[in-house]
Amino acid sequence: MKNRKFLWGSATAAYQCEGAWKEGGKGLSNWDVFCHSDKNNVNPVTGDVACDHYHRYEEDIKRMAEGGQNAYRFSIAWTRIIPDGTGERDREGIDFYNRLINACLKYGIEPLVTLYHYDLPKTLFEMGGWENRDTTEAYVRYAKVCFEEFGDRVNYWATINEPNYETLCCYGYGNYPPNVKSLERRWKAMYHMMLASAKAVALYRGMGYQGMIGLVSDCYSIDFMEDAEEYRKAAGFADLFFNISVNDVCVRGAYPEEYRDKLMEEGYDLSYMRKEDEEIFKAGCVDYLGVNAYCRYLAKPCTEKGISLTANNTGDGKKKKLFIEGWFALDEDKGLEKTPWGMEIYPKSIYDLLLDLKKRYPNMPVIITENGVGNYDSVSEDGEVHDQYRIEYLQGYVDWIEKAMDAGCDVRGYFVWSAMDVYSWINGYKKRYGLVYVDFDDQGLRRIPKDSYYWYKNTIREKGEKFDGKVQ
Ligand code: BG6
Repeated sequence: MKNRKFLWGSATAAYQCEGAWKEGGKGLSNWDVFCHSDKNNVNPVTGDVACDHYHRYEEDIKRMAEGGQNAYRFSIAWTRIIPDGTGERDREGIDFYNRLINACLKYGIEPLVTLYHYDLPKTLFEMGGWENRDTTEAYVRYAKVCFEEFGDRVNYWATINEPNYETLCCYGYGNYPPNVKSLERRWKAMYHMMLASAKAVALYRGMGYQGMIGLVSDCYSIDFMEDAEEYRKAAGFADLFFNISVNDVCVRGAYPEEYRDKLMEEGYDLSYMRKEDEEIFKAGCVDYLGVNAYCRYLAKPCTEKGISLTANNTGDGKKKKLFIEGWFALDEDKGLEKTPWGMEIYPKSIYDLLLDLKKRYPNMPVIITENGVGNYDSVSEDGEVHDQYRIEYLQGYVDWIEKAMDAGCDVRGYFVWSAMDVYSWINGYKKRYGLVYVDFDDQGLRRIPKDSYYWYKNTIREKGEKFDGKVQ
């Protein structure tokens, strides 16, 4: 399948926007349970209603098309397709996604469908989630149902969203369910996600489909403030930790030696890595790498003992803290602007990242599956949302992507996170990323396209032809 059109779109994920948590035959997910538990104590809100995209998908998709977008990335809730994770497929859930996909096609929007974006059926979660190898089998069965039901109309699939970031939150920061701090458990969960993804890729090809299937990886350009040997070494470990441990596996089809060596050297149990899996990884290389790009990371040598991982989920301006003895610590460039959640604003990072990816994986097409900035937005007296800071951020990224494409990087698409304001995981609803404002205090969940929505429409108009011409 060869699409000569550059994909210009925006993205969401099921739990963050659909709502209707107990409607349409849906089963419960780990996030439904977590958000209703007392562990949800930072911003104790839920995705029960969210943007009510479940009922309003058509108006939301129409608005994307009116904004000049030609693609929409969304995820399927596993719990709508197979409510208990492993049992029978549910017609009502399948019909919902049929309606959603058909609405995309009706408005000239190419769907890019993520099979798994953080929300795992409760039943599987209770049996150990991704730490349990059986989850990979359940996932493949679920993926097969999705390919059978939607494969005739969906040309772009993403197997799993962010194996690195999700497991870092679940088992590192400990702020996502199951809320534990254990890197040992993290490595294992991440391994099973990669295995599940590889199996799904091979299955998809084996079923004879011609579309593109990839994995969505949160990727970071890694930099350092001091040009010294120990800083370069720390940057190498940060690269291994955040990027290579995922990207090598799905692009090259094998775990890098340095990764196994490092984990073994530190005494981690790797008995779950089976010899026979090597063939599965080899057969499961992706057609494209989905890149979620938000910021760069600065690495420095870790001089402290132990491990400390602290996220900022309150938007109080504090930076997140991360150091791992024997690996690296995160550094800070005090001269750069940050969001209230401590994220550095540095658009050139996407250029550095794309060039790094091209160097390591020369023939791998990239789709920027997420790029965006979260902040406190509000409706002005004129009834509009003036998010100039977001326009500047996105403009910077698009300009640097263009430069990377001019330098030969094979980029096939760009998706803004997010299509509209959505539930921002444990950050709640105040951290907004959308091109469209959602008034969560309004019963009708009124939508207001922000200035950035109109900026995006113009950008697509201005750059569309040139970007189409660059599609390799
Ligand atoms: C990505 C996720 O990591 O970042 C999205 O794929 C998420 O689901 C986005 O919403 C922004 O992160 P957050 O935590 O600020 O909402």
